[in-house]
Amino acid sequence: MRVEDFDMFATLLKQRSGLVLTKDKAYLLESRLMPVARKWNMKGLDELATTVRTRKDEALLRDITEAMTTNESSFFRDTKPFDQFRQVVLPAFLSARAAKRQIRIWSAACSSGQEAYSLAMLLQDEATRTAGWRIDIVGTDISAEMVERAKSGIYTQFEVQRGLPIQMLVKHFKQMGDKWQINPNLRQMVSFREWNLLQDLGGLGQFDIVFCRNVLIYFDQPTKGRVLEAIARIMAPDGVLYLGGAETVLGITDRFKPVDGQRGLYTLSSGPGFNAGSLKAAG
Ligand SMILES: C[S@@+](CC[C@H](N)C(=O)[O-])C[C@H]1O[C@@H](n2cnc3c(N)ncnc32)[C@H](O)[C@@H]1O
Repeated sequence: MRVEDFDMFATLLKQRSGLVLTKDKAYLLESRLMPVARKWNMKGLDELATTVRTRKDEALLRDITEAMTTNESSFFRDTKPFDQFRQVVLPAFLSARAAKRQIRIWSAACSSGQEAYSLAMLLQDEATRTAGWRIDIVGTDISAEMVERAKSGIYTQFEVQRGLPIQMLVKHFKQMGDKWQINPNLRQMVSFREWNLLQDLGGLGQFDIVFCRNVLIYFDQPTKGRVLEAIARIMAPDGVLYLGGAETVLGITDRFKPVDGQRGLYTLSSGPGFNAGSLKAAG
């Protein structure tokens, strides 16, 4: 690939999705954009680059942006955040929101939906404690293809084998040939929409619990800061934020602070903090 084409694609991707592509990732551009060139009946990346320069076709730019996203995900990814959610965070919110009986959870950059459905499964297992509550789980991703996959709730054998305990598979999925589909009652608990984290987030409403995991790693520092600050603006004052194992707010923004003793969990610096004590109140 010509250097000027790499630079043009890298600039485009940074602007549209926040993705930072360093020169050592040129091979990724080539392998992921070839299918886009083929889909658009182009001979190769030279023609693709020329077309992008001369014709600002939104559908083509979207295809390029989506093709460059890494959509790796799995059920109960990294296990610990979900154990912590079940044992610490959920009980604290059941206590803190006892009057309102409403909790809104956001799986930001949800990919094909495994994180959102993992949370739905945990909540379903707590059904006796959450009866009469309204608990919304919203999954969003920049990729229209991933959002469609998430909505379908259909996963391959390989996907359900990664991280999903067999009892959960049997309880919450129905086999469809060689695939598995999440049961309708769980699909009803989750809604998915296309949303770019660089866009204004205001339209999503306010969230109590935000999972924004394994997406900031693709951004540069200023973009991480901008996204974290936008997330902070749509969180409840006592809300919590989960980041991925390789991500942090430290050195990026002072809008959030880590929750003592709870790895990967952050709370708003301006808020009352996370009251793990309410765990006791919740019994
Ligand atoms: C590696 S996956 C992480 C999925 C899930 N959060 C997890 O931890 O398993 C990263 C996801 O971020 C999405 N993404 C990348 N840039 C985005 C942006 N600017 N806005 C929203 N989603 C984005 C990608 O489409 C991809 O599905």
